[in-house]
Amino acid sequence: MTTLLEVRGLGKRFGGLVALDGVSFDVAEGSIVGVMGANGAGKTTLFSLIAGNARPSSGEIRYAGRSLVGLRPDEVCRLGVARTFQIVKPFPALTVMENLRTAAMFGRAQHRTAASADAASQAVLQDLGLAEMAQQPASTLTLSGQKRLEIARAIATGAKLVMLDEVMAGLTPTEVQQMLQTLRRLHQTRQLTLLVIEHVMKALMALCERIVVLHHGQLITQGTPDEIGNDPKVQSVYFGASL
Ligand SMILES: Nc1ncnc2c1ncn2[C@@H]1O[C@H](COP(=O)(O)OP(=O)(O)OP(=O)(O)O)[C@@H](O)[C@H]1O
Ligand SMILES: [Mg+2]
Repeated sequence: MTTLLEVRGLGKRFGGLVALDGVSFDVAEGSIVGVMGANGAGKTTLFSLIAGNARPSSGEIRYAGRSLVGLRPDEVCRLGVARTFQIVKPFPALTVMENLRTAAMFGRAQHRTAASADAASQAVLQDLGLAEMAQQPASTLTLSGQKRLEIARAIATGAKLVMLDEVMAGLTPTEVQQMLQTLRRLHQTRQLTLLVIEHVMKALMALCERIVVLHHGQLITQGTPDEIGNDPKVQSVYFGASL
């Protein structure tokens, strides 16, 4: 199995606060890896460091063998890494299709014309159930629609590694099931590697081959969903007892 992403000794300080501390793990190409942890554990910070939205204080991030540290978000994106934002960040005044066009033209896919970008984006809209909303301003979508637009934009960049930050938060149980199906289908048909932050533990366990668990910025354990479910450290973090 080829390693697509290598995180080594990754640290991030915000002033006196240590948001991430010596985090190391690998993501195999084509796998789905979950990231679990309580509020403030450092999950979103991890994505921001990988995507180039913030700079690590220490450590290394390698994607397909090359270092991402110091690259800008647009450079990281062009290499094939895209993320969604926990607090959705569409261009609200642009239509759903225009949001995807931007991604398709400026991401790894690098479509040269709007027509070619739109043609590629059409399939992504279908995949995410957004085709009927293509001409609506992004601001008119429901929360579930905006979450799907975040994913659609990440996919439309032509990324190989897609990082999803709580795309199931706030969805109804039925919507969560639909989202799981959608993610499995996208993973298969587009040969994606997925890194998935989720608080809905059951959903994460159903989706992922491996899960890493962060606690106060440290990676406390990693393994298969079964291993994670039976890990005493995880149980103490999630079910009360102090570590
Ligand atoms: N830009 C920032 N400036 C200062 N502190 C920050 C910044 N971003 C995150 N933090 C702090 O770093 C810690 C980790 O935050 P992060 O957003 O990564 O957690 P998280 O695991 O994603 O939490 P949640 O489940 O609530 O989304 C928190 O204590 C947070 O307050
Ligand atoms: Mg977060």
